[in-house]
Parts: sequence; C-alpha cells; structure tokens
Amino acid sequence: MTFRLAVLASGRGSNLRALIQAQESGVLDTRIVGVFSDRPACAALAIAREHGIPAIAHRPADFGSREDFDESMFNEIEGVQPDLIVCAGYMRLISRRAVERFKDRMINIHPSLLPKYPGLDTHSRALASGDREHGASVHCVIPALDSGPVIAQAKMPVMAGDDSESLARRLLEREHPLLVQSVKAISEGGVELRHGEILWRGKTLQSPLQLNDLDQLEEGK
Ligand code: GRF
Repeated sequence: MTFRLAVLASGRGSNLRALIQAQESGVLDTRIVGVFSDRPACAALAIAREHGIPAIAHRPADFGSREDFDESMFNEIEGVQPDLIVCAGYMRLISRRAVERFKDRMINIHPSLLPKYPGLDTHSRALASGDREHGASVHCVIPALDSGPVIAQAKMPVMAGDDSESLARRLLEREHPLLVQSVKAISEGGVELRHGEILWRGKTLQSPLQLNDLDQLEEGK
C-alpha cells in the first residue's frame, strides 16, 4: 500500500516541490494526500494545486486560540489518513495537544545542525558564531520547538565570504535531498519512529544519519 504523506507549509514550497518531484520520478513510493497551510495565499498551496494535490488553508485569525486552530486543522489532516506528516517550512508553532495526537508520525526540516540554533535566523546565527560548518536537520516533532530527536542531517562548509543569503541558498540545495531521503527511509521502514525514539535498521539510532555526497543516508560518526 502506498505510504500517505500530509505536508504542512507556509511559504515558498521548494521542499514540497522536491517531494512531489521525487514522487513523480519514482524515487519515492509515496502519495501526498494533502497540503495544509496557515497562509491561504502561499506558493506551496499553488504548487500543490498545480499537481492536483488537495490544498487546504486555515486562517489563524478565524480561530479564538492556537488550540482551536490546531484542532480544526489537524482534524482535516487526520481526515486524509496520513502515515506521516511532514512540516516543510511550516512557520507556526504547533500546540502540545496536536503534537501528541500525531506522536511518532510528524517530522520537520530545520535549517541548522540541531541542537544548534532552533528557531529563526539560523544562517546569520551560524555566521555570527564563526561556525566552519552549517547544515540542516530532519527531526521528530515534539512540543518544544525544533527540539525533537534528530533523524538525519546534511552538513556543508561555511566558505570565506559567505553571507546569510549565500548560506541559505547553498543549504536549500542540500535540504531537498535530505528531506526526500528521510521520507524515503521512513516510508520504506529503514527508519522507524517509536515512542519518541528513532530506530535505524531495527536498532536505536545513536547519532543522526548523514546525507553523503551521493545523496544517500549513512550512519553518522
Ligand atoms: C526551509 O529552509 C526549511 O528548512 C525551513 O523553512 C524553509 C522552507 O523553505 N523550515 P521552502 O518553503 O520549502 O522553500
């Protein structure tokens, strides 16, 4: 049975596009069964519609509280029966209740080498700290922001002359295969999320998997 994905996005949607392309080219044996957003006009929803994927937006202003918004949004998400929820540039905090409802079934991509730099402005924070290395992480979603166990990372060097735009641009090129390969590993069962723990080929993952130059995930050192 095809593995069902729900994608949450708020903006540009390049990670969503990467998932769609991977699906269409057969790299992923998945089906994106819905794209959900808190921003009705965002590009990600338009991309979904172009590809015939149901695209659903809820406006936070229409709800009295974060809990009410999430209750409504995640009821819709549950309705498409996803095996996995992928937050791909979803810029809204998710309430504890919604996170717990989908425990072990929700992942997020974040543009830093977590646990470094949860939250915003990750590229400028990496530069300000003088980091020689930067990267992106795919992690399990837990109630605390950008803090769940890390499944996989893509690392890249910071070069002389880099600014936050150049870092963001170069990193995005690594984010796409990182997200695709992470979803692939979960959908094929190589990675399992169980009670907040990550299993890789049946054993507890000790450190995040790494995306190598061949765009494959391998055990981290
Ligand atoms: C990415 O950098 C992702 O890591 C972060 O938000 C950005 C989304 O980009 N969470 P896009 O909308 O997928 O192009």
